This record gives sequence, structure tokens and C-alpha cells, in this order.
Amino acid sequence: MPARIISGKDIARTIRNELNAQVAALAEEGLVPGLATVLVGEDPASRLYVGMKKRAAAEAGIHSHHVTLPDSASEDDLLGLIGELNTNPAIHGILVQLPLPRQIDESKVLLAIDPAKDVDGFHPVNVGRLATGDPDVLAPCTPRGVIEMLVRSGIDPSGKHAVVVGRSNIVGKPMALLLLRRAPGGNATVSVAHSRTADLGALTRTADILIVAVGWPNTITRDMVRPGATVIDVGTNRVDDPGHPRGYRVVGDADFDGVREVAGAITPVPGGVGPMTIAMLLSNTVEAALRLGRAGR
Ligand code: GUN
Repeated sequence: MPARIISGKDIARTIRNELNAQVAALAEEGLVPGLATVLVGEDPASRLYVGMKKRAAAEAGIHSHHVTLPDSASEDDLLGLIGELNTNPAIHGILVQLPLPRQIDESKVLLAIDPAKDVDGFHPVNVGRLATGDPDVLAPCTPRGVIEMLVRSGIDPSGKHAVVVGRSNIVGKPMALLLLRRAPGGNATVSVAHSRTADLGALTRTADILIVAVGWPNTITRDMVRPGATVIDVGTNRVDDPGHPRGYRVVGDADFDGVREVAGAITPVPGGVGPMTIAMLLSNTVEAALRLGRAGR
């Protein structure tokens, strides 16, 4: 029997409806969450992602403030902007879209964002709080979205073997930390595989939950998946498709058609993890606003 499809699109819609109600109730109390999105340069994919994020914020009733800096912007330009956003009381969340142009040191930028406004969860203080199991940390949106998807689909990682393929700071590493947490959606036994892992298939075939975030199509084929396993595909890759009106199609890191024949559950691409990332960004922004608003900052 082919795998059950876990629709991130549907789960994200439910979460966004819940957030709409929460934001409307907060507005009645005079607290309007504010999200600043910052794009440096004109990378088309980054522009598309940031556009989706700021539109989603506005749709939720979140005050959305967007700044685009030119590709030639200096590190000081960006640090100056972050300094202003840090002290702007109408802004509760700051998102600087990555990657940044070469002349800007990403680690300096992430360090400059007020950890209380770090809705991406990339500041070292928040990374440390996640690693030490702080339940109140603002956690990175994509891995948080994966946990939320599992929980809302009735798939409890507790006691299961979760294999994360990919070790990026944005997805792989925080994904492993969230799965390890002593918390609902956590308590898994976690392995992290990466480009140097010997015999990837031997490891992935032991996964009850397989999470793939490497950015390469067909990284996971059906022979690498244990029958009945849950496969969460974080990849979004453009592949040429002359038959498609745009000339390309978007696929994940797993061979969807093959893997769905053996998996128990699988996320599609598009319509899987992507919409969850945006829903979690909105959720983190509301959470940050609640904390900062109540603290009177
Ligand atoms: N670039 C790719 N993914 C992300 C993300 O989740 N947040 C930011 N800020 N940049 C990204």
C-alpha cells in the first residue's frame, strides 16, 4: 500500500488559522506582533522566500516591515539596520534572509540580533538554549515545523530511531537537537548522517523516522527506506522539465514516487515542509511578541 501523504499545506493552514485568532485577540489587548524581514541583494530564490514570509505575516495580522539592501551593502550597513530593529518597540521578530553576500560575515550578523527577537533561532544564545533543552527557546522554523507535523500526524518520535540526513545549522543540527529533547515530539534516538557517512543506505534503512535535508534530488531512493518508515523531505530542488510551463519543477531530496511505495508516511514537495516553515515563523513571532510585549520592551 503506498504511503500516507502528510500534507504540510493542510497542517500549516490549521496552525495559521489558530494564529489568526490569537493575533486578533492580542490586537484587542493592544499588542500587534511585528516582524522585520531583511533581504540583502537580489537572489531570486531568497526574494521569493522573503516575499512569502512577509505576505504570510500580513495575512496573519502581524505588522510586517520589510527592508531590502543592495547586493553591495556593507557589513556595517546591515549591522546598523539590525541595531535599529533591535530597539524598535513595534518589531518583535527580526529575520535576515540567508545566505548573505560574500562581503558580510554571517556569524557577526546573527550575533547582532537581539536573541529575544531572533525568530529564526540562529543566535548562538538560542542555539545553546536549544542544545541544553530549554523548553522556552525560539527554535529554528524548519525543524520546529517538522516536529509539529509529526505530532499533529500522530507520529510520536519517542523511543524511535530518527535518522537526520544533513548537518546544516539551519536544519540538520537543530533538527537532531529537537528530536533529542525531553519534550512532546522529542525523546527519539537520533543519528545524524552527512556527506562523509559511509554506506548511507545501511543507516537510513534502520530509521523509523527519516528526515532528509541535503539539497540534492534522489538522495534517498526506495531501497534506502525501511518498509513502513516515516519520511520527511526537507529538500526543495529545481530540476529542468521542458514539459513544464516554467521549464523546471520543484522536487525534494527523496525519489517521491519510489519511496512512497515502501514508506508508511511521506511528505510531498511542494506542499510538505515548506508551508510549515512559514507557519512556524509566524508562531515564533507571536511568541516573541508575547514575551517582549509583556516585559514592556
Ligand atoms: N535561508 C534558507 N532557509 C532560511 C531560514 O529558515 N531563515 C533564514 N533567515 N534564511 C534562510
